[in-house]
Amino acid sequence: MAGLLDEIEPLKQSALAELKAAPDLAALERSKGAWLGPRGKFTALMKQFGALPKEERPAAGKAINAAKMELEAALAGRREELELQAALPREPTDFSLPGRRRTLGKLHPLTLVTEDIVRSFRKIGFVVADGPEIEDEYHCFDALNTPADHPARDTQDTFYLAPNGADGAPPPSPAAAASDRRLLRTHTSSVQIRVMKSQPPPVRIIVPGRVYRRDNADATHNPTFQQIEGLYVDKNVTVSDLKGTVEFVFKELLGAETQIRFRPHYFSYTEPSFEIDFRNALVKKLGKDWLEIAGCGMVHPAVFENVGYDPEIWTGWAFGFGIERIAMIRYGIADIRLFYENDVRFLKQF
Ligand code: DAH
Repeated sequence: MAGLLDEIEPLKQSALAELKAAPDLAALERSKGAWLGPRGKFTALMKQFGALPKEERPAAGKAINAAKMELEAALAGRREELELQAALPREPTDFSLPGRRRTLGKLHPLTLVTEDIVRSFRKIGFVVADGPEIEDEYHCFDALNTPADHPARDTQDTFYLAPNGADGAPPPSPAAAASDRRLLRTHTSSVQIRVMKSQPPPVRIIVPGRVYRRDNADATHNPTFQQIEGLYVDKNVTVSDLKGTVEFVFKELLGAETQIRFRPHYFSYTEPSFEIDFRNALVKKLGKDWLEIAGCGMVHPAVFENVGYDPEIWTGWAFGFGIERIAMIRYGIADIRLFYENDVRFLKQF
């Protein structure tokens, strides 16, 4: 049966030619079946092998195996080529088309206003300080000379944290009440205490930051909002230093024609204390004469004592105001909740 050996080579050549020419994956699979499948032409050849005389089997077996391996390699090679082709885009790439642009974000209006305020204070030697938003009663109230029965400390006004009672609830026992409850700071004034306790005077800081109160959200209230605190401690500091500083910053922020005035007020950590009103064209537009904007005063001697500063030597002033309020006036925004909704139609305007 020398015939079998002679048949291998031509059969292999036609199989190779067909596999390599398969135009797509489906055609390739069909060719594979036609040659190497159970009823394939090459398989039929292998079936004849059993009928060979013993002495011819080694040579025939070797030739068949070599041919089969060659066919399988050709099959795999063509399959890879076709798969790669199938993955390519159907349309040719047009390299002259403009690229896809990623839309650039913008700074939030509250960030813009905060940066402006910080820039003005830096010009006159203030540095930015910060402190934790999760505070304790000591830094938020006691050290600021704010008595235990002050309404700001009420659970209706302040977010208290576990474990001294469920969040916001009064402590479960007198022992827990005596310990220092943790809370979300209601104002940035707590940072005055932290900074004075960590460094000797003089101090010249501003503190932009987020604060929290148990307010229902409406057009002018939000349970979280931003404040800027200021603190200046040195020898012989006076109310006129305070007024001059505030005037400088507000003129920078809201226009050179802006006027301010101080009204007597009460804060437990300042004495005397004032509220600051301002007026300019923007306020007029709102149909108002003066608009209240901030609280301030001369640092209370009891506060100096609490942080270890000698009130006979050191004097100082402090102020605090809301950033949303200023942003609302500056940009003519009627509802504070817009700052917190993250609606890009709103944010894109700044
Ligand atoms: N902490 C006050 C508030 O949240 C604002 C304030 C008033 C801050 C007087 C001060 C100050 O530093 O001296 O309403």
